[in-house]
Amino acid sequence: MSQIETAWDPEQYALYSDERLRPARDLLARVRLDAPEVVYDLGCGEGRATAMLAARWPGARITGIDGSADMLAAARTRDLKVAWERSDIGEWSPLSPADLVFSNAALHWLDDHAALFPRLMGHVAPGGALAVQMPRNHGAPSHTCLAEAVESGPWRDRLGPLLRRAPVAAPAVYREILAPLSRTLDIWETEYLHVLEGDDPVVAWTKGSVMRPLIAALDGAEREAFLADYAARLRPAYPRRPDGRTPFPFRRLFIVAAR
Ligand SMILES: C[S@@+](CC[C@H](N)C(=O)[O-])C[C@H]1O[C@@H](n2cnc3c(N)ncnc32)[C@H](O)[C@@H]1O
Repeated sequence: MSQIETAWDPEQYALYSDERLRPARDLLARVRLDAPEVVYDLGCGEGRATAMLAARWPGARITGIDGSADMLAAARTRDLKVAWERSDIGEWSPLSPADLVFSNAALHWLDDHAALFPRLMGHVAPGGALAVQMPRNHGAPSHTCLAEAVESGPWRDRLGPLLRRAPVAAPAVYREILAPLSRTLDIWETEYLHVLEGDDPVVAWTKGSVMRPLIAALDGAEREAFLADYAARLRPAYPRRPDGRTPFPFRRLFIVAAR
């Protein structure tokens, strides 16, 4: 399997599970389907958002799709009426069109959205919907400092190709792609102001997501040196406030396309 298997860590990802689940809730709130029968959760991870789908539509046939065996193992420990399948979203297709194709915080790991989104829309049955949330914080220091840290160390040639610099396009780009394929299209962005606790909390945050393939490619002292460099770059961008907490603005893009 491709890069998707590189060491997803359910524990590290779950560190900020409240903050990471809020967008899934906000996305789901805008899905206007009464009783979808066939539902897929693409990049379901350990199944937290899938559990919300199961709670909202207890009669639906829900399948969680993910490429990570570790994430799926964590998902399977949940007591849910959900089928869990290991598959690469880039190659996935359902047996029959779905009433809902849902994806929270996963599609930014895939390239070529101009081809991917129409393909996913093609798997949606008439009357159904594609609902997607992706982080779009790549212009913020959490990500630009990461690029700087990658480029300024002896690891540059190894880490450079692993860095996903701008995997999510502007909202208007998704409108161009999806409007011809949609009956209604709802696209918006939200910038959450997360308030994090502890030392270097933005490092802890990105360790569970965008930094994952980078730190997997380093070990020992080199990994520590890279993390220290990144943390030092982040501190002035996200200063800890007098109450001991660190505000962390984070932008996300939402799409609900109905067929
Ligand atoms: C940030 S987690 C999100 C998990 C879950 N949707 C949630 O909201 O908690 C991203 C998930 O996408 C999966 N993923 C990334 N690229 C993938 C691909 N090409 N095919 C299948 N799964 C993929 C990862 O294994 C990971 O579990």
